[in-house]
Amino acid sequence: MAEQKDLFKDIISHCKEYGFVFPSSEIYDGLSAVYDYGEFGVELKKNLREYWWRSMVQLQDNIVGIDAAIFMHPATWKASGHVDAFNDPMIDNKDSKKRYRADTLIEDYISKIEAKVQKEVDKARMRFGETFDEQQFRTTNARVIENQQKIDSINARMKQALEENDMQAMKQIIVDCDIADPISGTRNWTDVRQFNLMFATQVGSLAEESSTVYLRPETAQGIFVNFLNVQKTGRMKIPFGIAQTGKAFRNEIVARQFIFRMREFEQMEMQFFIKPGTETDWYKHWKDSRMQWHLALGFPAANYRFHDHLKLAHYAKAACDIEFNFPFGFKELEGIHSRSDFDLSQHEKFSGKKLQYFDPDLNENFVPYVIETSVGLDRLFLATIAASYHEEQVPTSVEGEEASRVVLRIPPFLAPIKVAVLPLTKKDGLPEKALEIFNLLRHQHMCQYEEKDSIGRRYRRMDAIGTPYCITIDHQTLTDNTVTIRERDSMKQDRIAVEAVEKIVADRVKWPS
Ligand code: GAP
Repeated sequence: MAEQKDLFKDIISHCKEYGFVFPSSEIYDGLSAVYDYGEFGVELKKNLREYWWRSMVQLQDNIVGIDAAIFMHPATWKASGHVDAFNDPMIDNKDSKKRYRADTLIEDYISKIEAKVQKEVDKARMRFGETFDEQQFRTTNARVIENQQKIDSINARMKQALEENDMQAMKQIIVDCDIADPISGTRNWTDVRQFNLMFATQVGSLAEESSTVYLRPETAQGIFVNFLNVQKTGRMKIPFGIAQTGKAFRNEIVARQFIFRMREFEQMEMQFFIKPGTETDWYKHWKDSRMQWHLALGFPAANYRFHDHLKLAHYAKAACDIEFNFPFGFKELEGIHSRSDFDLSQHEKFSGKKLQYFDPDLNENFVPYVIETSVGLDRLFLATIAASYHEEQVPTSVEGEEASRVVLRIPPFLAPIKVAVLPLTKKDGLPEKALEIFNLLRHQHMCQYEEKDSIGRRYRRMDAIGTPYCITIDHQTLTDNTVTIRERDSMKQDRIAVEAVEKIVADRVKWPS
């Protein structure tokens, strides 16, 4: 665990040192849970957004995109249920003065018991070797059974308390589990209270003219209110989807996990409109499809798992998360929700406008059901950096190269900089030749030209920002018009003809189809 924590710290420092993520308004000591993306961060974020857009819109026959405004009519949030129900249960520790989400405190406690169970399982696996049957062990070992029952009982109590909005019962779970504040170590808790997560502001200049509007807490509602516009103008036939990416805002109670939980973040959401009665099949379809999309990035499959929701959001009939093994453990990366006709029906009720689809085959109108996929771009960014980050010892082959390196093994098509063009020295006409190649490549890809420092140091810097290829121009280039191409992960260098550079690079960094 200590190692995991340090790894997280190392990743945060790396992100800052190499221009990926900075604390917002840092010269004023930052603003809690708000971050800025630096020169390489913005490129990686843009590429991740594009990877999503390509697979969700460009490569789909029946999904189109929109870009709705952040501000929406305030009735939207009454209809969607966010004004009344978009709450988190919060609790304060009177000694540390720290505020927590009550459900997170309980979940963390459950994770500790789960870790104990896993330790027993791992120990037994070591002891029994190949003959080990995990399922049998979990259902017969007394300590594992006892701990599993404890987990199930706490989960059941929390589910009931959250469903019944019973904050006293939430507090009682914390008391019964003897949960202490991780900072003060005391159990001196306030009562649990509900806290609405929406940010409100005013539209209009004069108090009497102004009205309260909210910064959208999810992008989804911009899609629902445009359902008929898009269906008509796009001549869409059900089943079809509407996708969008954009900022969302939540006044998170606890925001101490870097870009995992932010107050301003970006979502990539798709609402898939279907015929009522087909939701079970489509829910499964999108669960599978979204997991495949994550796995296609090529990071180990063991980093991903599904987690069914214990407490359903006010709009959901079924919901699960795709969780990622972040440096602080498995946590939600993406949500897949079966939203029934909740949103469209609510908007019909509040707006007085019909939001229905006329099915020409059935010759009837209906309010479509919706399956939603919703992934946080910042969480995807963190998952990508965490899975790519490697500290390793390496053999040195060139001057100035250190024996250890930090390398970001970002999939080449996502890398912020695709190619670095490096003259071996600053003289003998090498920079001129290098600039010729750089000026050719920069029309196709994000490239960097760098002539400062030893070549080894420049390679290390490119490793640290995840640049998959370095093209080095040396004295041989001037005689036979060849350069070396160095591959980031293997550090292998090949000699290739200058005329081949453009095609070789294009082939190696191209988007997956
Ligand atoms: N429209 C459905 C919806 O908003 P959600 O599970 O609340 O569902 C979807 O959010 C995704 O948005 C999450 O899986 C997560 O990746 C991202 N997300 C939510 N809150 C976030 C926050 N405070 N900071 C960063 N990402 C967040």
